[in-house]
Amino acid sequence: MAGRIAVIEDDSPTRDYVVRALEGAGFTVDAVAQGAEGVALVEREHPDLVLLDLMMPGVTGYQVCERIRKGPASHTQIVVMSVLEGVEEKVKALELGADDYLVKPVATAELLARVRSMIGRGERLRQEGARTNGRLVALAGAKGGIGTSTVAVNLAAAHGMKKAHSVVLADLAVPVGTLGIMLGLPIPEKWVWREFVMDGAASVHRLSSYLMRSPNAPLRLLPGVRQGSPYRDVQPEAVSAFATALRGLADFVVVELGNQPSPFVPPVLRQADAILVVVEPEVVSVELSAHLIDRLHKGGILPDRIRLVISNPHGSLQLSRSEVITALKTEVVAAIPYQRDEFSAASKRRVPLVVQQPQSTAASQFEELSRAMAQV
Ligand SMILES: Nc1ncnc2c1ncn2[C@@H]1O[C@H](COP(=O)(O)OP(=O)(O)OP(=O)(O)O)[C@@H](O)[C@H]1O
Ligand SMILES: [Mg+2]
Repeated sequence: MAGRIAVIEDDSPTRDYVVRALEGAGFTVDAVAQGAEGVALVEREHPDLVLLDLMMPGVTGYQVCERIRKGPASHTQIVVMSVLEGVEEKVKALELGADDYLVKPVATAELLARVRSMIGRGERLRQEGARTNGRLVALAGAKGGIGTSTVAVNLAAAHGMKKAHSVVLADLAVPVGTLGIMLGLPIPEKWVWREFVMDGAASVHRLSSYLMRSPNAPLRLLPGVRQGSPYRDVQPEAVSAFATALRGLADFVVVELGNQPSPFVPPVLRQADAILVVVEPEVVSVELSAHLIDRLHKGGILPDRIRLVISNPHGSLQLSRSEVITALKTEVVAAIPYQRDEFSAASKRRVPLVVQQPQSTAASQFEELSRAMAQV
């Protein structure tokens, strides 16, 4: 079993010994000597497990535990390794969120056995817990150029800005994904997770290795399909397993499905807690959305999982909010106003509007959307 481990230990001989033992057993290891650095490392890398010393100068192991549990990497397994062998210390560490406690010195064989067992447990919990803890929100538009990608990026970013959540944004738009470009990420030339949906050997762990951390927004991106990629060839069972794995990637997973049919759409819609249909307040978009919503209903999607987001990238004054609601008989959860200069400036800098201009009216609508989606 491979896995990524963060070692937080101030004593350098112990740190070197642990790193050598873990690397020797095939784990990928990052090691730091200070608590604050450790928390930053864990929040950045989302390792499978943290091996944590308690007594450290500055931020102690107890505080590290507490901060990890309150932060975006709260699902990480934490194993404390300390010379403190009193019941009181053990209880305190466990109460603050440690999953296991080892008393130093620890024999290599026991260290490896515990680490393997805790990583296995973490993986099982993530997969089981995905359904109850993680939220999967899918976005689709019935037409191109109506701001679907903008809504996806800003919803994910707004959610990520609330520190308590880990957020993944998955770009499943075809024939080509644009979210990487929008977030200023060096997008891979190939469709990197292709083999994942081809061989069907799905696991959350494997899928998460394709995620890219955005420098411009508090989220991780599953980069999109590339131009010309043979996305139609994938097997339905493999795509179903893929959709299940998507759920386990984070507390909150936003999936952009774009506006074209693809093999990804049906399984993701089946798994989604909420489906946001992005609609522009003008007659063509509304009419196409009516057809889309009708197809969803016929496909067995219950109406209460579908919501509307009104997006107005062209400043249309054709239809009011209530006219859109009447035409589509679906609840509107947010209406993003036309803000040409604000969106243009954010887009040019490749930063989501909610990050670049958190005080804007549009940002407050994305906030509202994020709040509504936390409850679905
Ligand atoms: N509310 C808004 N006000 C002003 N401009 C906006 C608004 N929403 C989006 N835009 C701008 O409109 C353009 C199209 O947005 P976006 O790429 O999100 O649409 P899309 O539906 O995903 O398009 P595509 O079909 O090409 O994937 C972008 O330049 C974006 O910055
Ligand atoms: Mg788009």
